[in-house]
Amino acid sequence: EKKKLWGGRFSEDIDPLMEKFNESLSFDRRMAQEDIRGSKGYAKALAKTGIITDDERDQLVEGLGKVAEEWAADAFVVKSGDEDIHTANERRLGELIGPVAGKLHTGRSRNDQVATDTRMWLRDQLVLLRGHLRQLIAVAVERAEREVDVVMPGFTHLQSAQTVRWSHWLLSHAAAWQRDDMRIADLMPRVNTLPLGSGALAGNPFGVDRQALAADLAFERVCPNSMDAVSDRDYVAETMFWASATMIHLSRWSEDLIIYSSGQFGMVKLSDAYSTGSSLMPQKKNPDALELLRGKSGRILGTLTGFLAVMKGTPTTYNKDFQEAWEGLFDTVDTMSDCLQIAAGCLATLSIDPEAMRRGLSADMLATDLAEYLVRRGVPFRETHHISGAAVKLAEDKKCALSDLTLEDLLPLCDKFEADVVDIWSYDKSAESRDTEGGSSRRSVLEQCAKLRRYLEET
Ligand code: ARG
Repeated sequence: EKKKLWGGRFSEDIDPLMEKFNESLSFDRRMAQEDIRGSKGYAKALAKTGIITDDERDQLVEGLGKVAEEWAADAFVVKSGDEDIHTANERRLGELIGPVAGKLHTGRSRNDQVATDTRMWLRDQLVLLRGHLRQLIAVAVERAEREVDVVMPGFTHLQSAQTVRWSHWLLSHAAAWQRDDMRIADLMPRVNTLPLGSGALAGNPFGVDRQALAADLAFERVCPNSMDAVSDRDYVAETMFWASATMIHLSRWSEDLIIYSSGQFGMVKLSDAYSTGSSLMPQKKNPDALELLRGKSGRILGTLTGFLAVMKGTPTTYNKDFQEAWEGLFDTVDTMSDCLQIAAGCLATLSIDPEAMRRGLSADMLATDLAEYLVRRGVPFRETHHISGAAVKLAEDKKCALSDLTLEDLLPLCDKFEADVVDIWSYDKSAESRDTEGGSSRRSVLEQCAKLRRYLEET
């Protein structure tokens, strides 16, 4: 005879498909240890109020320890009717210690319980994910310092724009990842907030000391309102948004590298460890790791939007819709763990071809520098822009490089040109000239590296 935890007012058995439809144990068993840790804490909190005796508390805690051991040894036997991790653990506890197990749930609801379990699980996962993200930033900084002398074409609209350092490009992505690191650090305290002691919605009637419970379970603070405590899934949404933002950054970074590693660009070569071949074309080496990062970004942000759609329009406090959160959350955490480590591995092992990067530079990318030459001689920038544009056109008409125009070619365009104009035809000088904070000069790039290093050390 199946007896549901909540079966008192029910007289008929649940429909078999409904049972399968309703269950979450197949995925929320992932939080088995957190569920038990939360229950142990709650048993202690109950004993402090006097509603259960110290002896009963000890029986509960000891029994819960045994259930935890069964999960750890992969020996927990799931029974039909185990609806979720909370009911499964309580059912097993009853088998092990008898009717006193029925005192554990005093004043507690699965509503405050599930929010507590998932927050405990997630806070640990976020620490791991943050570690992977910071490792990726560290790889970027290390490369940026080592390869600071390499210059490459910088693009806007994917059209050749100006000379930048390869390191400057690396750090442009590290800067985005740093924001991702700040974002995850910012949301962690909101994840690590305790709902337990809120009951189903109205609060705890036995005077459980929620501050002490929070301290015992290593939460930073308690949810301030019991109705909000069981309603709130912002911690899930914020994690998924953090993941989406991070994945969009990884996807754009991947896209750059996919382009740079194509035969036509040839500026970057992925290591064999992060590439695959073609089953038909023997010459192929495909950037699958990067394409998967780009593809998984779509999956991650789809999970976010799907979850936001689940939450929208649910009435205040708990609704079973919320159970839809967990599979997406687990998938998001697992996918992020893989993606961040794969990205770090790709970045650490790819090789660059500085010569190909140099070949990608063309004299017209110094047209801005030509205008700036005249600016330094007092010509208003708007005029210099036109003059330099005319020089580009002249070079095009003469079918020569912009840098091949002679002083005689240039003088009719503006009488401020002098023999030293030849000095601007240097890609390195062009990068060096942008020496303002955040620019692509060697000094500025190394300063960006130093700041990121300090950030990683101090936060
Ligand atoms: N498995 C449920 C979930 O994940 C646990 C909470 C159930 N609460 C309830 N009132 N039915 O949301």
